Amino acid sequence: MSPYGIRMVGDPVLRQVAHEVTDIDERLVKLARDMLQTMYDAPGVGLAAPQVGVQKRFFVYDLGEGPSTLINPAVSESRGEWTFDEGCLSIPGVSFEIVRPKEIFVTGRDLDGNEVSFEADELLARLVQHELDHLDGVLLLEHLDEEQRDDAKRLLREMKLGSGTERAPAAEGAAGLSLP
Ligand code: NI
Repeated sequence: MSPYGIRMVGDPVLRQVAHEVTDIDERLVKLARDMLQTMYDAPGVGLAAPQVGVQKRFFVYDLGEGPSTLINPAVSESRGEWTFDEGCLSIPGVSFEIVRPKEIFVTGRDLDGNEVSFEADELLARLVQHELDHLDGVLLLEHLDEEQRDDAKRLLREMKLGSGTERAPAAEGAAGLSLP
């Protein structure tokens, strides 16, 4: 069983700006481990702390190369454009073609408190940008054009999401490579 329930669109916690992590301690390590379990169970490839109701600036992810945690992440450079069918574990069953920078330079800290920096391209770049948005209270809905936004509203109405804080069942078959 997943340690946490994933917060769904309509939950105000998803719209708040998360706080910088000041202490990388055992509690945070446990939280990250529990979040990874929740992410794998979903299943998804990334999960940001606000998605489990924790207002701290970090996220967990695994694109098939093992679990990682990125704390206080920042993007300092971005290049190019890349279109990708992007989804979110907090908006189950919905995905949209969204254009974002293709390559980014990322900095942050790992769970040992070490500074990390790396170039990210395509899928990893997309994941980092998506999760960083969560830390700023931004959902992928805000990246949609007008037509996509209308579709999203209709879909969310059909799923009875987005109108309050009610929980929704996890969508079947919507995982794929969709980002949470
Ligand atoms: Ni998401």
